[in-house]
Amino acid sequence: MRFWRLLLLATPLLAETTWKEVAPILERRCVQCHQKGEVAPMAFTSYAETRPFAKAIRQAVARQSMPPWHAAPGAHSFRNDRSLTAAETATLAAWVDAGAPRGSAPDSSAPASGPRRWKLGQPDRIVQVPGFVVPASGQLPYSFLIIPLNLKQDTWLRAAEFRIDQRQVVHHINAFVRPPGSSYLAGFPVNEVFTPTPAQRSKRHAHERVFDRRQLVLGYEPGYEPMPWLEDGAKLIPAGSDLVFEMHYNPGGAPAVDRSEFALYFAPAAPRHRVVAIDTLRDLDFVIPPHANGFVSQAAMTLARPARLLSVQPHMHVRGKQMNVRIVYPDGRAETVLAVPKYDFNWQTTYVLAKPLDLPKGTRLESTAGFDNSVNNRFNPDPAASVRWGDQTTEEMHIAFLELVIEANGDPEKLFSSLPASPRPTVPAAAPQD
Ligand code: HEC
Repeated sequence: MRFWRLLLLATPLLAETTWKEVAPILERRCVQCHQKGEVAPMAFTSYAETRPFAKAIRQAVARQSMPPWHAAPGAHSFRNDRSLTAAETATLAAWVDAGAPRGSAPDSSAPASGPRRWKLGQPDRIVQVPGFVVPASGQLPYSFLIIPLNLKQDTWLRAAEFRIDQRQVVHHINAFVRPPGSSYLAGFPVNEVFTPTPAQRSKRHAHERVFDRRQLVLGYEPGYEPMPWLEDGAKLIPAGSDLVFEMHYNPGGAPAVDRSEFALYFAPAAPRHRVVAIDTLRDLDFVIPPHANGFVSQAAMTLARPARLLSVQPHMHVRGKQMNVRIVYPDGRAETVLAVPKYDFNWQTTYVLAKPLDLPKGTRLESTAGFDNSVNNRFNPDPAASVRWGDQTTEEMHIAFLELVIEANGDPEKLFSSLPASPRPTVPAAAPQD
């Protein structure tokens, strides 16, 4: 009985899978990147463009290397989940196996309108990197650019968007808000690019509050997708703040001049909630031994006030292998919020929870990062090295960036106030690096 049913499903006479069934899947799941002017090297917006890649598509979806999505299925779903359903994968495979026929469907899949300049609409303000010159080769230190925003009053930002100009050389750009009086890069010139020493970068006033020094607005890394933070939630830009770009370029074999842009979208009125990004779930002290595969670094922090968790973004470099982020509630309940079993440094995805999680005061957040410093890691630049925290891709990092929501007039500093000691050492709020 079951045998006959299988045979029936497999018979191509029944209903051959054609471009008509395939085009909507590509449009839904692939075309955001696979169109002219976007990150992927080939477009899938028409049958003619897609047909030569049919076999590669079958392989990529079977291997699950495409669409790029690295979270293991778990208790939580993500708003930006790019993965295919089993039915979609089966349809793509059936189409390729049938010889990738067009059938009688029209050639085109997506509207030919092309990528919009700003995905989130017309910005209120656009800030530009004024032509950063990237040489053909070498290692570049982090560069910085301070841009005064000249905002006379506290302003709420409901969204921000990066438009990256030279994708092949931009490793990352982080945009920070620097409130007036901050120690962060104090004394450096504005509106021009400079490269401070690590010591100059980490200088701070004694007892300076974390959010008085700088606040992360948005980071761009490959895999970045523009998204508003939350309905009725916005980030605060205190009056008189500057915008600071922290920029890291990786030379790509040919000289390039980058003119990336950053768009700001202001909220018309004060929101009910404030969105804050923190980078304190991290381990600054690990040393990965030479040739070690399976080295694990642990980080933990405890919330000293309630907050809602919006998103998690694991960050490691080329030796990063896996990351897990776990929540331990004050009542002892524990759950994994994000598991990335096969980390890929080319895709620094921010995993945005479909349903934000309420975290009571006293909740402990833990992250576990696994590294592969062996020769089996084909991205490993030097298996003989002892590897510590550092800016360069040849060094490592272990951070789980978190976006949290508090009430609009709440004090985000209270997230970090010291609490009774937790079983594992809490990462200090005023960390030495930045
Ligand atoms: C978020 C962006 C993004 C999405 C979504 C995406 N791709 Fe890709 N794709 C890329 C990029 C970038 C490359 C080239 C670099 C690489 O291979 O990782 C690529 C490469 C490919 C390749 C050729 C090389 C390889 O890895 O096999 C195939 C085939 C492919 N994609 C198929 C798909 C299909 C099919 C979908 C949808 C079901 C899809 N991609 C969705 C960004 C994306």
